[in-house]
Amino acid sequence: MSTPNWAARLAASFVVACTGTSLCSSIASASSDAVRNQLARTDCVRGKFKDYYLQDQGGNPPVSYKGRVFKLSQNYPNQLPPKENYPWLKIPFKDGGPVDARAYLQAMLDYGLEGNIEVDFYVEDNKTRRWYGAPWMDWNTEVASDWPGTDGREYIHGLTHEFDSAGNTFGEAQVGFVDTWAQAYMNDRYGFGLGQVYCDPDDPKPGALNPDPTGLNTFPDGSFVIKLLFSTVSEAELPTVKGAFEWDANIYINKDPQFRNAGPLSRFERRTEKVRLIQIDLQVRDERSTTGWLLGTYGYNGNAKGDTPWKRMVPLGLQWGNNPKVTFAETCAGPNGPCDYDKLTEQWINRQAVVDLATPPLNFNHLGYGGRLAGPVDNPKSSCMGCHQTAGFPTVPILAEFAPNGSILKLDAQKHPETAQSLRMMYFGNVPGGAVFSDTQLYSADYSLQLAMGLQNFVSLRCAANASGPRPSLCDELANWVRLQQSALSALQTFGTPGPGGAPIKP
Ligand code: HEC
Repeated sequence: MSTPNWAARLAASFVVACTGTSLCSSIASASSDAVRNQLARTDCVRGKFKDYYLQDQGGNPPVSYKGRVFKLSQNYPNQLPPKENYPWLKIPFKDGGPVDARAYLQAMLDYGLEGNIEVDFYVEDNKTRRWYGAPWMDWNTEVASDWPGTDGREYIHGLTHEFDSAGNTFGEAQVGFVDTWAQAYMNDRYGFGLGQVYCDPDDPKPGALNPDPTGLNTFPDGSFVIKLLFSTVSEAELPTVKGAFEWDANIYINKDPQFRNAGPLSRFERRTEKVRLIQIDLQVRDERSTTGWLLGTYGYNGNAKGDTPWKRMVPLGLQWGNNPKVTFAETCAGPNGPCDYDKLTEQWINRQAVVDLATPPLNFNHLGYGGRLAGPVDNPKSSCMGCHQTAGFPTVPILAEFAPNGSILKLDAQKHPETAQSLRMMYFGNVPGGAVFSDTQLYSADYSLQLAMGLQNFVSLRCAANASGPRPSLCDELANWVRLQQSALSALQTFGTPGPGGAPIKP
């Protein structure tokens, strides 16, 4: 596959673009649809990604399984589909956020569910609009302690394994670990971005998310994701899960990550069990937002009004920024609160839900750092936008606690979240979508952690020493990056130290 000559194509686009007035004016704004389309690669190869974990390598459903098998919707459009008259556009913005956040969140949910419930989220059958899934989640390593690839998609609905919630996360009756299994569905404008990165499925280009190399590496405006998060939690463990929407999923028999990760691989054995829909995450690119994105979430409450489980999903909150200057001590009295949300102006929290879900026997805490929004099954030391702003290639730690800096600074988020704010608050910044979070990254994945993780999964297999086939260009880029990072770090120890004759010490 030929590599596009960006410079020539860009030069051509300026010539063409400025002969027509509409394109002339749009080129002044950030990577308009016309520019993205003009520079988009159209010679893309589709249909090459695996659907589920170890497909055709021992992971196929047994012959006794007669149900539907998950297929990744991966026929990404080569031309940017036009914007729709999205329902959330009706809601005006003030100071980078919607004036009616609850209505905005509802509009997002309605759009995400439309036509998808009817087809049981086998989204390629949706009659209203096209939906897609992210590549390379069939083989997925969620955290470093997990055995490589084992978190990959199961074969019934394509769910990946996520957070393990330790005992007592949801309520007093939940004693042991419960697992979260989830799947995200992307609209056509988001799918276009994915398709540009993976135009050549064997040689992804993370920097081509926006085909315009002069722009930020963004998804186009109107890109949207709905993510369904299922838990293995039972009604006995969590009474409010009664009547939740259920799926069969082929998941780990053993729910304890410490047991599984001690190995051998057979401890990751899967079988088909019920999982219950406990959370719905929503994410949209809306240029009016402070960061370019809004992330919101719903939690299931079996006691809520509504004649279907979908209607018993309760809005928990919406975030469009992290309020990067508001330290922990300014909002929360201590590690377990109480917190004052008024200073966090770049989010909306459903305060009634906060009270309802934290009243015994429930223990739900869907709030993250300093009272910022996070989901019930998310890490409470973080926030939606905090984790997502880090998305890029290569991946970086999504929380201060996971970074090497964290261990040197002896962070103790359980007891002292208010200390070491100079490092911690970096994880609660407002990275402009399409710019990298850290100088240890080469490309932004514009708040998409599935895009970031998928690329990391790709290199973990395709750049391995025993990998077969042509070597993807990303492998050498990553190898060079590692070498230069290592020498830059080593040089810190000799920087400014005189060597023989007063000369710098050569690394
Ligand atoms: C502790 C870090 C963390 C927090 C907090 C978090 N996420 Fe995520 N999120 C992830 C990771 C990692 C992925 C990719 C893995 C996956 O989806 O399997 C992801 C994936 C997603 C996706 C799929 C598209 C994408 O960007 O990859 C959506 C939508 C999403 N999250 C929304 C939310 C919302 C809304 C919140 C807050 C309620 C939230 N997330 C909080 C880490 C986080």
